Amino acid sequence: MKVTEKIKVPNIQCNQYLVDGKITTWNGPSADVYSNIFLSKGANGEEAPTLIGTVPDLDEEVSLKALDAAVNSFSRGKGLWPTMKVKERIACMETFVKIMATKRAVIIELLMWEIGKNTSDATKEFDRTVEYIYDTIEAYKKLDRKSAKFDTEGNIRAHIRRGPLGVVLCLGPYNYPLNETFSLLIPALIMGNTAVFKPAKLGVLLITPLLEAFKEAFPPGVVNVLFGRGRKIASPIMKTGKVDVLALIGHSSSAVALQDQHPYKNRLRLILGLEAKNPGIVLPDADMALTIKECVSGTLSYNGQRCTALKVLFVHENIVDEFISKFTKAVDELKFGLPWEDGSFLTPLPETQKPKYIQDLIQDAISKGAKVMNKKGGEMSTNYCFPAVMYPVNEDMNLFHEEQFGPVIPIVSFKDIDEPLNAMANSDYGQQVSLFGESVKQLGPLIDTLANLVCRVNLNSACQRGPDVYPFTGRKNSAVGTLSVFDALRSFSIRTLVASKDNDYNNKILQKLLNSEHSNFINTEYLL
Ligand code: G3H
Repeated sequence: MKVTEKIKVPNIQCNQYLVDGKITTWNGPSADVYSNIFLSKGANGEEAPTLIGTVPDLDEEVSLKALDAAVNSFSRGKGLWPTMKVKERIACMETFVKIMATKRAVIIELLMWEIGKNTSDATKEFDRTVEYIYDTIEAYKKLDRKSAKFDTEGNIRAHIRRGPLGVVLCLGPYNYPLNETFSLLIPALIMGNTAVFKPAKLGVLLITPLLEAFKEAFPPGVVNVLFGRGRKIASPIMKTGKVDVLALIGHSSSAVALQDQHPYKNRLRLILGLEAKNPGIVLPDADMALTIKECVSGTLSYNGQRCTALKVLFVHENIVDEFISKFTKAVDELKFGLPWEDGSFLTPLPETQKPKYIQDLIQDAISKGAKVMNKKGGEMSTNYCFPAVMYPVNEDMNLFHEEQFGPVIPIVSFKDIDEPLNAMANSDYGQQVSLFGESVKQLGPLIDTLANLVCRVNLNSACQRGPDVYPFTGRKNSAVGTLSVFDALRSFSIRTLVASKDNDYNNKILQKLLNSEHSNFINTEYLL
């Protein structure tokens, strides 16, 4: 897919990074950033990715400086940020989100160019992130208000609150480079932690307009933003053992490799959102039109590059033929186009290797007896592979087990409900499921089992993370910890208390502390 000459190509030249409250110019090597949307032909006449900017390719020395800045800013719990009044931390966050809102247009444009998200999804990602920040602020106010009191149990009085954990290394995924990264970073910061943050492998340029906002809004060293390769930047940081929390949404292989580099694993808290292979289970009495609609959006929104995407469909044998004939028609009607073109549902894949990987999955399934069921299925271009609906898929095929994270849909027919249930129990993943059907007699016991295999059962609805106030987590290899506006505040903090024997002597001291400004732990009630 080529773009016409009229389209304005971004050209973001960033040679800066943020460490210790200073935006510093980097004179070392830079990394070119390409979009997998093609503008011209390469030297050999092949379609070539479009250069849209550069970012610094930082080294170990800078990454360790960023870590030191975060460590010093936390300052063993003495730092300005971890001891600050809740009200003041919230004010910093409000400053940040207000400046961020002014960058809306450029960030949405970069989401389209860098990761090929269509206009509506790119806009949703930005707006949802701003809303997430405001919701986090409100949730923190509530949490603080709830804990602004003394409890008495036996003869002990205690003030129990949630305190920060320390230094967070924050790494987000390419498919939601803004939203998911910030769903980690924002709660981490607001709870009083300090952070080193490296943008995802794709979706890097869109962070550059926010450097100034981070600098303006937060005290020095609270948030440090680095650009470069994970191996060069994140590994040396982990090896120091100074990271208290690894917050990562991405692949378990990266999470495990980083975790392994930390010398004191027992003190490393993990907050991870990882792979999933969410199944759709279609029962014989499912409403066909509704199920097709939900399965199309569930499998193919953003080309299936969502951890919550439906990645395998189990369809009852009585209705599998009808399902396939209607589903394949709906898939072939989807419009492929550039992210900003009207009605583009399918868009170029940002990872250059992805079309070939999808094609390999298709070929493997064909070699083991599956067929491409839709006319356009598997049609290749340099940056796309049209969604292939594969049937019949079985467990000998890679497509049955692997998280394809792209446009190919395996369909498995089943006779006995134990077939999909066993597949789920045997799977390495346990995030969500979509269950399509009507009979409560059948749905009821199934819901009870499924709720023990995954962490969200979507009834006659596609899987999804939102709304962001709902818990988002997974079993087995799919997650560590729970995220939601409210849960993330808990995940990035620890309960800590000030306790004393309940007697006149102590109570007088506590009263004085309450009436003074000497302790922000004791005297931090968030008053509206
Ligand atoms: O990639 C995983 C995301 O958390 C999915 O979020 O369901 O809102 O697209 P979503």
